[in-house]
Amino acid sequence: MAFSVIVLAAGKGTRMKSSLPKVLHPIGGIPMVQRVINTVESLQASAVHLVYGHGGEQLKAALTGNNLNWCLQSEQLGTGHAVQQAIPYIDEKEDVLILVGDAPLIQAETLARLAAVKANCDLALLTVELDDPTGMGRIVREGDNIKAIVEHKDATDAQRQIKEINTGMMMMSGADLKRWLGNLSNDNAQGEYYLTDVIAMAAAEGKTIQAAHPDTASEVEGINNRAQLAALERALQARQAHALMMEGVTLADPARFDLRGNVVTGKDVSIDINVVLNGDVKIGNNVRIGPNCILTNCTIADNVVIEANSIIEEATVGEACTVGPYARLRPGAVMQSRAKVGNFVEMKKAILGEGAKANHLTYLGDAEVGAGANIGAGTITCNYDGVNKSKTSIGANAFIGSNSSLVAPVKIGDNATVGAGSTVTSEVEDNALTIARARQRTIANWPRPTKK
Ligand code: UD1
Ligand code: CA
Repeated sequence: MAFSVIVLAAGKGTRMKSSLPKVLHPIGGIPMVQRVINTVESLQASAVHLVYGHGGEQLKAALTGNNLNWCLQSEQLGTGHAVQQAIPYIDEKEDVLILVGDAPLIQAETLARLAAVKANCDLALLTVELDDPTGMGRIVREGDNIKAIVEHKDATDAQRQIKEINTGMMMMSGADLKRWLGNLSNDNAQGEYYLTDVIAMAAAEGKTIQAAHPDTASEVEGINNRAQLAALERALQARQAHALMMEGVTLADPARFDLRGNVVTGKDVSIDINVVLNGDVKIGNNVRIGPNCILTNCTIADNVVIEANSIIEEATVGEACTVGPYARLRPGAVMQSRAKVGNFVEMKKAILGEGAKANHLTYLGDAEVGAGANIGAGTITCNYDGVNKSKTSIGANAFIGSNSSLVAPVKIGDNATVGAGSTVTSEVEDNALTIARARQRTIANWPRPTKK
């Protein structure tokens, strides 16, 4: 059955003590409400209504690219009042799934389970049993039948003993929801319009109310402060690490692996400790990543080895390349097949051709290096004159001697050789040798000055 979704995200999030709206705080590198939206997207809802209250500009800027119906709740008068803001857009013939923007670990399978329960009753609730249910709405049952949700502050001592709680996620028909919300009052301990009051209304009408449950409690946990954010971050990381290992990735220590975004991995990928993956990362088959590497929005082809402490951002690493240890590939760095970049080598907007090597202490910026070229230790492309950036082009199989400065714009031909210590300012023809340094002069038996 077609259904739409209402995501509640108007709460202030005061306890985050932040100028960023709570639901925009990232978890696993993605704003928490974006995670909820992504999960919903996989369920193919007909529409997603986002109820927001604070930081509208920031929210809209951060959530562009989502197809959302924005519903402003200008005053936070309670969860029932929040849902009311979306009611004008709800189709009575459709079901409505209500979610919260600050419980980011909810899984699509769990929501599908909730929808399956709804298909056989009038009102489906996602509930969970907690050892410490303090502060939560309690599920009041008579026998097996759910009769009401009572908020902690309104509950009797006996009701407070109930461990089954309301996660805030539920599903019902648009027509029922509309009718019930119209009857809410704020005559309760918090003076709020409680969404949870609709459960007693449903029970009074003789509707069938049933519960579905998540796999784990962390899945439905909400975030109110940064300690809870950190705890759920670890839960999410553990879940992601587990999923990767089940897909065949070796993680030296799943507790010391962080994925802040999305990764696609091939077969036999092995990742050592303290590796951080940011944004969208693609890793091919048979890739080994050493400890302490940070990879951001990059593509790594098959059979690549990335040694310890390398940092790769918006770069492409071709098949069978080796990188690091201590290499830095900045945006626009492209290593073609079997190229090699060693320690303390930095690349930016530069192409290192097939099988070319820059093994030590080099900066390649705004450069193109041909296949098979060898870039000696300490080679620098001087790409910036203080105002403009210029390009260095190095031909195939060129040999750049150690400690050379290539002052761009400059071109070194195919198979050309640059003598060590050269400062190259003009073009070197194919097959030529250039030496641009002071000639060595030796004075035999030279007496060193002595103190007078
Ligand atoms: C709510 C439930 C409680 C449940 C708990 C689970 C009610 C009355 N209570 O309690 O049964 O156990 O969640 O975490 O529903 N929001 C708005 N506008 C408002 C108020 C809240 O958009 O005016 C949003 C918040 O941003 C949040 C969600 O609704 O995402 C839940 O609000 P919160 O204040 O956390 O509800 P609780 O009192 O914790
Ligand atoms: Ca809450």
